[in-house]
Amino acid sequence: MLAILAMIYLGNVMFTSFNQTSQTSIQDIDRSKFAGSTSCGDCHKDIYESHTKTAHYLDLRPAAKEFIKGNFSPGKNKFVYNQWMEVRLEKKKK
Ligand code: HEC
Repeated sequence: MLAILAMIYLGNVMFTSFNQTSQTSIQDIDRSKFAGSTSCGDCHKDIYESHTKTAHYLDLRPAAKEFIKGNFSPGKNKFVYNQWMEVRLEKKKK
C-alpha cells in the first residue's frame, strides 16, 4: 500500500515538474535559431513557391497588420459563432 502511495506521489511530482518545463511562452522562442522557409527557396524554388500559396503557409504567418484580413473597427470587428462564442479583433500594445 505504501509503495503504491509512494508511486502516486512521485508520479505527481514528476508530472508537475514536466509541466513546468513545457510552459515556454511563444514570445520566448529565439527565431534566429530557425532556418525559416525562405532559406529553402534557393534550392527548392518550385516547391517553395507553391508552398507559399497553400492555406497552411498563409495560416502560419505572424499576426501582423499587413497579413490580417479582418476589420478592427468597432461594430465590424466581431465574428459570432453562436450565443456563447464570438471572436473579436482588437489591437493592444505589448
Ligand atoms: C543548398 C541547397 C538546399 C537548401 C538550402 C535546402 N535543400 Fe532540401 N535538398 C537539397 C538537395 C540537393 C536535396 C536532394 C536532392 C533532391 O531530392 O532533390 C534535397 C532534398 C530535400 C528533401 C527530400 C526530398 C525528397 O523527395 O526526398 C526535403 C524534404 C528537403 N530537401 C527539404 C528542405 C527544406 C525544408 C529546406 C529549408 C529548411 C531545404 N530543403 C533547403 C538541397 C537544398
